[in-house]
Amino acid sequence: GYPVKIAGTGKYIPEKVMTNFDFEKFLDTSDEWIQSRTGIKKRHIAADDERCSDLAYKAGLAALADAGLQPDDLDLIIVATDTPDTYCPCTSAKVQGKLGANNAGAYDVLAGCTGSLTAMLTAIGGVASGVWNNVLVIGAEDFASVLDWNDRSTCILFGDGAGACILTRSEEGGPRFVSGEIVADGNKYDLITIDKEEGTPSPVLRMKGSEVFRFVNTHLPPFLKNFCEKSGVTPAEVDFWVLHQANTRIIDGLFKRLGVSTDRTLVNLENYGNTSAASLVVTLDESMKEGRIKRGEKVMFTAFGAGMTLGALLYEA
Ligand code: ACO
Repeated sequence: GYPVKIAGTGKYIPEKVMTNFDFEKFLDTSDEWIQSRTGIKKRHIAADDERCSDLAYKAGLAALADAGLQPDDLDLIIVATDTPDTYCPCTSAKVQGKLGANNAGAYDVLAGCTGSLTAMLTAIGGVASGVWNNVLVIGAEDFASVLDWNDRSTCILFGDGAGACILTRSEEGGPRFVSGEIVADGNKYDLITIDKEEGTPSPVLRMKGSEVFRFVNTHLPPFLKNFCEKSGVTPAEVDFWVLHQANTRIIDGLFKRLGVSTDRTLVNLENYGNTSAASLVVTLDESMKEGRIKRGEKVMFTAFGAGMTLGALLYEA
């Protein structure tokens, strides 16, 4: 294991709500279709003057308060996002400046919906080896800025938001991460893309939804079974699951394949849609605040997304 613990968590969800009924007004879709195919009822959308760094900053402040730390205590800030303010400089540098985290370095991670898990795993490695003491990991998305609002197969799926956690060296016998793994299948890179297209002024999201669905259902369960085996646990022995929130059918199918009861997780995608890199850390924050994760329990984190990428972390809380 690694002597690294979660010292605090936070989230920020923008105020503006968009319901499925709002989409009925301008698209050939329905609340019934969206709910039955995805589980989503509504999502939040960043204000026109709110960018990824603004959402990330607020989630970061909340995590610092929760951990009882000051910005100067941070050695590193990693923002995981698919929708940065700019290609360069990194969004995390803006967050570092806004927080006044004078002792912290900053870089972004781009790994689709697996981004915040990837950033956590990187931070765990750095803290465990003694390079850093306190790392702020933020997942933040301004997804509305890359959606094609005429494409009913994608724009109904995503939402904006930010989640954060602080990873710190843990004391002997305290909570700790047990193991972590990320994998990628780059031959499937075209299943989810955010890229410039002819006639579009800025990058736009495209997704081959049913292929993504099939890929995840085929690859995630064996990946997790294998990861559990390597980590010395069975899926049934995991007390609580912190999952990337993409689709309730994916979550139900995963638990069925693993033989795990769905009451061992917190599902919030009906409220937020898929917030990509933010989703895992928002879900972590809500699971902590609702007391779903108890001291000594085995907690599995897992995410999947563009790349295609998959990842898992095992934590002893
Ligand atoms: N309203 C009504 N009908 C729709 C809508 C909509 N919003 N969107 C698509 N349809 C139609 C399609 O046009 C199609 O019609 P057709 O049969 O006449 O061609 C029909 O519904 C079925 O479409 P499918 O795409 O096959 O529907 P499916 O059951 O696969 O559900 C969905 C689509 C929800 C996108 C599903 O495939 C899915 O959840 N995929 C996974 C996406 C995901 O998890 N992404 C996560 C990673 S994202 C990241 O990393 C950034």
